[in-house]
Amino acid sequence: MSAAKRKKKSTALTNGPSETLDTELSELESETSVEELEEAAVAASALIAQVVAEAKAERKVSLPEPSAPPFIDFDKVSIAFNGRKVLDKVSFHVGRGQTLCILGRSGVGKSVSLRILLGFLKPDSGRISVDGQEISTLNERDMQEIRKHVTMVFQNGALFDSLTVGENIAFPLREKGGLAEDQIEQLVTRLLELVGASETVSLLPSSLSTGQRRCIAIARALAAQPEAILYDEPTTMVDPIMGRNIGDLIQRLKLQLGITSIVVTHDMRFAIRLADLVLFLEGGEARFFGPLDEFLHCPDPHVQQFLTLDEYNPPRPLAVADQLPGQ
Ligand SMILES: Nc1ncnc2c1ncn2[C@@H]1O[C@H](COP(=O)(O)OP(=O)(O)OP(=O)(O)O)[C@@H](O)[C@H]1O
Ligand SMILES: [Mg+2]
Repeated sequence: MSAAKRKKKSTALTNGPSETLDTELSELESETSVEELEEAAVAASALIAQVVAEAKAERKVSLPEPSAPPFIDFDKVSIAFNGRKVLDKVSFHVGRGQTLCILGRSGVGKSVSLRILLGFLKPDSGRISVDGQEISTLNERDMQEIRKHVTMVFQNGALFDSLTVGENIAFPLREKGGLAEDQIEQLVTRLLELVGASETVSLLPSSLSTGQRRCIAIARALAAQPEAILYDEPTTMVDPIMGRNIGDLIQRLKLQLGITSIVVTHDMRFAIRLADLVLFLEGGEARFFGPLDEFLHCPDPHVQQFLTLDEYNPPRPLAVADQLPGQ
């Protein structure tokens, strides 16, 4: 607002309400140009877009109502191998559109949990349900149906080496049937745009980096239009920037498509960015299951030890005595 306008406004404020209104109206009529209004509208819409983006970035997705049935539900699931209990009455649940991160040290049963959920391993006891349907008793044919709704992104991408990226993504679309070739092409283009890898469409998987392969695997998983995607260590063996891209992608799939995610990770920073819920496994038990904030403040010494060990320790500079001669 110009100095002249500010002066007018302060004068107006000292007068009565109708006089103030009159002054304001005459001010608008006389001094506010269409250009100024247009500028203000552009600024306002930019501000709204920024606030919306910030709110989304804050990812304060509300937890489902206690009464809402969970999309994926593990209830007292146990499994042992050669007499050794790997999971002992482990329970957790994930609501539609939520992200659960499974944390814990090596060998605690994180990957086993995903394999049980996909029906590749049968639990010794306990119930697992997907969208209200009990799945632990299903046969292989029925499990294949479930895997169309709950799909897995494997670490190596599990892509077909002899097919191009585009053909790999088109594969589940062709298998599903009912789509014309030009529709398949359009979908492949859209999916590649979504994962930020349009330039790879005609490349073979062997010429892609590990991170790119994972993004393509996510695009191919999406082609099957799943409701939930499971990721086992999606940031292992990729650089921090690619790790961040994969994290952004998982977040976008949640915000734009409402995809439910279960992410097994060792990477606490990654978990902090993504998780609505955390499952922390140790010694066969679910030592913690609940919202991320509660996990970060959980007084359980096992949780505290895991969080402390994960803290980044910069490498110590070499002591003079450790250095090689001549260095
Ligand atoms: N099919 C199997 N037969 C026998 N033992 C198995 C089988 N699958 C997993 N295990 C054992 O179950 C335990 C948990 O394995 P799992 O792969 O879930 O560990 P994890 O938590 O994913 O570890 P990491 O972080 O190293 O990947 C391990 O001791 C593993 O050897
Ligand atoms: Mg594992």
